[in-house]
Amino acid sequence: MTDYPTISERVDDLATARTEGHRKMDWAREHMPILTALQAEFEAEQPLADQRIGMAMHVEAKTAVLVETLADGGAEVAITGCNPLSTHDDVSAALDEHPNITSYAEHGVDDEAYYGAIEAVIAHEPTITVDDGMDLVAAIHEDYPELIDSIVGGAEETTTGVHRLRAMDEDGELKYPVFAVNDTPMKRLFDNVHGTGESSLANIAMTTNLSWAGKDVVVAGYGDCGRGVAKKASGQNANVVVTEVEPRRALEAHMEGYDVMPMNEAAEIGDVFLTTTGNRDVITREDFEKMDDGVLLANAGHFDVEVNLDQLSELAVDQREARDGVREYEMADGRRLNVLAEGRLVNLASPIALGHPVEVMDQSFGVQAAAVRELVENGKAYDAGVHDVPDGLDREIAEIKLDAEGVEYDELTPEQAEYMDSWQHGT
Ligand code: NAI
Repeated sequence: MTDYPTISERVDDLATARTEGHRKMDWAREHMPILTALQAEFEAEQPLADQRIGMAMHVEAKTAVLVETLADGGAEVAITGCNPLSTHDDVSAALDEHPNITSYAEHGVDDEAYYGAIEAVIAHEPTITVDDGMDLVAAIHEDYPELIDSIVGGAEETTTGVHRLRAMDEDGELKYPVFAVNDTPMKRLFDNVHGTGESSLANIAMTTNLSWAGKDVVVAGYGDCGRGVAKKASGQNANVVVTEVEPRRALEAHMEGYDVMPMNEAAEIGDVFLTTTGNRDVITREDFEKMDDGVLLANAGHFDVEVNLDQLSELAVDQREARDGVREYEMADGRRLNVLAEGRLVNLASPIALGHPVEVMDQSFGVQAAAVRELVENGKAYDAGVHDVPDGLDREIAEIKLDAEGVEYDELTPEQAEYMDSWQHGT
């Protein structure tokens, strides 16, 4: 099939790595009631029998519980990372032990190995793809179009992946159906908002050992992620400044009480800069030139293009590793600007990163598992293109979670349901 080595062929002490990986997965699973419920259902009913699932995701403990859930549902799963720095090798090795799972994900690989592992996943000839950032969909369409006919569909985890897929769809180039898992309420209102907010701030604090209190924190982008980051930074007594390009989002941030201004003005004020835009060149040379000595620069967007590190390197007269995960760039005038996690998404790629809290990933991955089941059961009903996950599936995931939390809520009476659906009722 492929001679690309699995993680088990690459780690030094496989037995120890697997033990540690399983320990991390056990902890995650204990706090993932949605996936636990779906895993039991999948194991009993084998809805994914005969499917081959190719995945490119952040390979750490929570993702591993999703991967096991799919494999226990009868699928053969091949997985690799979606970022060279976010893989936990021990978890990858533990996954690779499962009879239905092959893992190629390895931490710290170069570009050649990163794309080699994606090709290795594709060599399993997936019938379903699960992406975080659209790498598999792109590689299949560009290099292996002959596989498309046998692909039932795909599921995409993140905003940037969904943007890329929609662009591809608009150009008429997307040749199989893909669910925009990111866009479901159960995913983006929790994962992007609370997950990115909490885990980005936690990782920056742990990587630097510095406090948020009293800091001027510049948040670039006031979408779901930016909203969460701004709220949580403000909750930790930071002064938040927001930069935006979309007038309604800028107004929303203003009405929320944050200072809103262009990046080039914020550059003079900020102690910490965190980009959450999914766009490129959000912080550039003109901004670096105005920043104070000692500022922190971090990114939570999907790709490492938000802080222009090429321009920063050109300006720098010297560079050094100030701490693990913190690269200091010294300017000609002596100012030092510190970049965290190489400008890659800080909550997943910094040396101690654990990604989002377990609870929110349980929701996101619950939607992923339900979307994959839907593709197997009803895939033929979906044309090529980007599709919303059916609302009923999203509700199902919310209901499992509320049940697990012991939270009860009201139901519409038949009269209320009829009233809500009727246009004849007025004052
Ligand atoms: P979104 O589309 O809701 O928000 C992005 C915001 O950035 C928009 O309001 C847009 O107007 C603004 N923006 C675009 N260019 C800008 C610029 N040059 N300056 C200032 N603002 C600009 O997207 P969402 O869901 O907040 O995701 C943002 C990024 O974070 C994406 O790349 C997504 O894939 C990624 N993401 C990362 C996660 C993580 O774990 N770190 C989790 C979820 C998403």
